Amino acid sequence: MSLLGFLDRVADVATFDKVIEPARRAVLGVLRPPVKDLLHGTWLGHPVHPILVQVPVGSWVSAGLLDAIPRMRPAATFLIGAGVAAAVPAAASGAADWSEQGPGVRRLGALHAVANTVALGLYAGSLAARRKDRGGLGRVLSYSGLAIAGGSAAIGGHMSYAQSSGASHAATAARALSSEWLDLGPLDDFPEGRPALRTGTGGAADVPLAVVRRGTKVDVFVGACSHLSGPLQEGTIEEVRGSQCLVCPWHGSAFDLDSGEPRRGPAANPQEKLEVRMEAGRVMARVHSRNR
Ligand code: FES
Repeated sequence: MSLLGFLDRVADVATFDKVIEPARRAVLGVLRPPVKDLLHGTWLGHPVHPILVQVPVGSWVSAGLLDAIPRMRPAATFLIGAGVAAAVPAAASGAADWSEQGPGVRRLGALHAVANTVALGLYAGSLAARRKDRGGLGRVLSYSGLAIAGGSAAIGGHMSYAQSSGASHAATAARALSSEWLDLGPLDDFPEGRPALRTGTGGAADVPLAVVRRGTKVDVFVGACSHLSGPLQEGTIEEVRGSQCLVCPWHGSAFDLDSGEPRRGPAANPQEKLEVRMEAGRVMARVHSRNR
């Protein structure tokens, strides 16, 4: 069985949920907005976890190289300490994202978290050993930590690339749209104050669109929420943090009607909007070239 096949098997084991669900509820109880949104990366319009993990991973890999050169070992010890400190915010952001994912991602995420915790413990032990002048033991512990952290990074990569954790589900849906202008119907057919469902046809697949009318202004969003594909056409219009937003009915992410930027998480990616123009009183929309 391939490594990826093994990880997919782990992601299918529902019995893990007996342990994972209480842990998830605990994370949701501790991490509250606005700290939780800070950890998701909602303020940045991009998930922060893949950015934050660069510091511990880079520090520990560099320490592994420097440890191979005896006169560079003090620098290696410094980098291990830097990596241990940087692992804390990286883990917090990962926990925030993990708590809002689907069951399959949560199962692999739990394995990822356990492996990272073991690696962190080995690095902390390495620092303690080095402080007591037991450099040989310190290097054994840190190289063991590096091996486990590397394996854990592979799990994290599988969560991102194979399970689309952290990816924009709206951008994926937008790629199925036709690149032609779509006729969504007369302006007068759209209600005020709530999103209306229209379907983008003529592309690789039919794509639900969420259309929001404010007077003569119309905003057209891809209907699949960037977080986990929730149906934005069934969402609500609310003011969130000073902006008029389209709010997802699944986990409450709020997207600025004007820009599509997230104003409240768990979404960290913006919501895809279409270009809009009026033609003889009818609403026309077209996917942006970046999504074609
Ligand atoms: S699917 Fe999770 S907030 Fe929309």
